[in-house]
Amino acid sequence: MQIDILTLFPEMFEGPFSQSILKRAKEKGIVQIFLHNIRDYASGKHKNVDDYAFGGGAGMVMMIEPVAKCIEKLKEKTVYDEIIYMSPDGELLSQKVANRISVMKNIILLCGHYKGVDERIREHLITREISIGDYVLSGGELAAAVLTDAVVRLMPGVLNDETSALSDSFQDDLISPPVYTRPAEFRGWKVPDVLLSGNEKEIVKWKHEQSLERTRQRRPGLMDDAGF
Ligand code: ADE
Repeated sequence: MQIDILTLFPEMFEGPFSQSILKRAKEKGIVQIFLHNIRDYASGKHKNVDDYAFGGGAGMVMMIEPVAKCIEKLKEKTVYDEIIYMSPDGELLSQKVANRISVMKNIILLCGHYKGVDERIREHLITREISIGDYVLSGGELAAAVLTDAVVRLMPGVLNDETSALSDSFQDDLISPPVYTRPAEFRGWKVPDVLLSGNEKEIVKWKHEQSLERTRQRRPGLMDDAGF
């Protein structure tokens, strides 16, 4: 998969993309991530990327021209499955959305800043809008990093058997069961006997019951959505 990220702050991605699973996925060549600084596509001496809103109102608006030029240049070389604008008023990111995006070949993620982007970008240049939650971030960069992580870890070959995404919370509309490791007892706090019993059948049953119970208690909406 190729992910092209359009941003005014490419440095914001250095940390998340150079560690752990994303780093490994890039090294294995499973994903290629390219960061494009929107300012490089701005014209004029000052390379402005934002301007006052027509009609007034607080906050600056990201201009259409640099964004359009950047997207058009990328589209000369690559056909994109989706051109996604990270926006608090977009479709909510879920495991299902991440699953669907993970099988795509090429995507663009556009990160907004200031008061948002010129509406014509949303109308004419992008194909989809995604939000990572009902709160407003200072920009789309952290949201794009979250989406990238959620998507890339699902791609074949990124996780090994032990960390397989199939047992993740939400993958089957259930929350994962609790996990424990050594020691079997710490300050009198014990690991449930069944996990130490070696009885595989009982362990599987216990884990499933725990998943159901946790989901019922913590996120009952997930079960309703899945028709439990
Ligand atoms: N940009 C600002 N807030 C955001 C959010 N919640 N999700 C996606 N992009 C954003």
